[in-house]
Amino acid sequence: MKALILVGGFGTRLRPLTLSRPKPLVEFANKPMIMHQVEALVEVGVTEIVLAVSYRAELLEKELRAQEERLGIKIVISHEDEPLGTAGPLALARDILLQDSEPFFVLNSDIICNFPFKDMIRFHKTHNRQGTLVVTRVDEPSKYGVIVYRPEDGQIERFVEKPQEFVSNKINAGMYMLSPSMLSRIELRPTSIEKEVFPKMAVDGELYCMELQGYWMDVGQPKDFLTGMGLYLTALNMYNNDYLHEGPGIVGNVLVDKSAKIGNGCRIGPNVVIGPDVVVEDGACVKRSTLMKGSRVRSHAWLDNCIIGWKCSVGRWVRMEGVSVLGEDVVVADELYINGGRILPHKSISASVPEPQIIM
Ligand code: GDD
Ligand code: MG
Repeated sequence: MKALILVGGFGTRLRPLTLSRPKPLVEFANKPMIMHQVEALVEVGVTEIVLAVSYRAELLEKELRAQEERLGIKIVISHEDEPLGTAGPLALARDILLQDSEPFFVLNSDIICNFPFKDMIRFHKTHNRQGTLVVTRVDEPSKYGVIVYRPEDGQIERFVEKPQEFVSNKINAGMYMLSPSMLSRIELRPTSIEKEVFPKMAVDGELYCMELQGYWMDVGQPKDFLTGMGLYLTALNMYNNDYLHEGPGIVGNVLVDKSAKIGNGCRIGPNVVIGPDVVVEDGACVKRSTLMKGSRVRSHAWLDNCIIGWKCSVGRWVRMEGVSVLGEDVVVADELYINGGRILPHKSISASVPEPQIIM
């Protein structure tokens, strides 16, 4: 079985992290985002994965070559000379997708959930039409593709991408299983699958959906990244409790890499992810935050709602909150206050940032 993952797009909403590496390689819960999907695909028997990219992707290619052997699969990078949107990449990879007559998966690369791939295979076989989508319910549907469907069998009646007016609160979760015959609907040009392809498939009665059980999040922006982290850790606590960290000062769901060091008298959690080689010094307090590989939080710093990029240093007695994001290798001097700051890579910060702003 094959899968195509849409990894194009510049990930601008996840800056400054995506200034150092492409969005799919940004670690979510200590694993590159894309590896959550790749591993779940391998688990249901996918053996060949096409990564559809629209930018220079040396780093991505290198990282995934290393995974190919480990997972025993084939990974093909399909490179677009110009961004082809969310449908064009399927036309570009047509030859690969048509090598056998089996349906294939298509995924957005920035979503996190308990991937329901097994159920999708089963459901797709039952209705035997061109497309299966997964839907989930959200409070703010206008940011997404909205779906209206017949509850008795899941046939989609309408698909509206980012509607201006309320249509429904069931949205496209960004995971599809498609039959090869649908490829005749797509030409090799920049095309939006959500705006130009799915609405027509719905009219033709060729699109079905199944409801996702459990959590879901598009983690392509900092606020949602942190919300998604909390949901992921809650799920981890329910199904795979062994992975979570316990010990003095650890509160609620906390994930800590084995190589990280936590000092005395710290309070860590709830909802914290600590990456490899991170050092948290004595008396620091970290809540609802992710600390990426190699970062250091000096003694008595206080962090809430932050993403600390790779190799950063947060000074002593610093207070940081309000969805602050540090790019790679940022140094924050002692005793500063940062509220909602987005700090670009390699900066040294020596003055407080009391209101949300971007520091270049
Ligand atoms: N290869 C390639 N080329 N990939 C692309 C391109 C492109 O030109 N443009 C976007 N992508 C990829 C993105 O990297 C992402 O994985 C996926 O296509 C969707 O693009 P986003 O920019 O993340 O779209 P969105 O979040 O606004 O909306 C999409 O996702 C929602 C769920 O999170 C839509 O599919 C909505 O219908 C859906 O509800
Ligand atoms: Mg997205």
